[in-house]
Amino acid sequence: MTTRNNTVFTGKVLIRLREVDSTNTWIRDNREGIPADHGLVVIADHQTGGRGRQQKKWVSAPGLNLTFSVRYLPRSLMPADLVSYNMAVALAVHDTVSDLLPAEKVEVKWPNDIYLNGKKVAGILIESGLRDNRIDQLVTGIGLNVNQTDFPGLPDAVSMQQVAGSSFVPEEVLETLLVALEQAYLLVESGRNRTGILNRYNEHLYRRGELQEFLAGERTVRAYIDGVDANGHLVLRERGEKKSFAMGELVWIK
Ligand code: BTN
Repeated sequence: MTTRNNTVFTGKVLIRLREVDSTNTWIRDNREGIPADHGLVVIADHQTGGRGRQQKKWVSAPGLNLTFSVRYLPRSLMPADLVSYNMAVALAVHDTVSDLLPAEKVEVKWPNDIYLNGKKVAGILIESGLRDNRIDQLVTGIGLNVNQTDFPGLPDAVSMQQVAGSSFVPEEVLETLLVALEQAYLLVESGRNRTGILNRYNEHLYRRGELQEFLAGERTVRAYIDGVDANGHLVLRERGEKKSFAMGELVWIK
């Protein structure tokens, strides 16, 4: 366990695991047995069963990247706040990558992948626990490709090092990321500036205004990306007609 200084509570207690299936799963399965600190961080050098959204895998070379989860124990967050929280976390990761690579194009691919020059540099998996219809546990898992230089079988993946041409110190990137994540959490918890979060999210939205193909169930949808609405739905314009889709209703076609 280590302590850090740039945050008020995030990562003040940090558990480093050499190898684990998934930091998100580890927190979920050890819920009663781990330190009850708000902002606990669990980081792994190697995940053997890293998970992404929609039953996808998250594969990351040992020791080169960041794979970690932050656990918050909210008192007043409601399920409806998750939409803003998802966006705020995506923006926190976006801003961190963008600050470290200011000359590059960093975007948020709906719902919450982070793209660097058109390829995926980070993924986010947010899992929450409910009690009395309030969120009592919020686990935010982040995989950020920092120094990996090849991604066999993953033509869409990229790392910060590949783009920068030089390596980064993962611990320093983590430090910056934890500050941004804490600010995101506090902003959402405060209930302030929901519109600001949504507007900033749309400002950085991947392929906004462009024609894109998706799979919606059995149907292929070819439509312009209009933006994301306050419900977190993706709004598409297909032959002039607007339609919104929830997470899980659309699959991107390359
Ligand atoms: C996605 O791309 O769909 C989300 C990927 C999230 C990966 C991170 S790595 C740390 C944490 N542990 C996991 O098993 N997944 C998240």
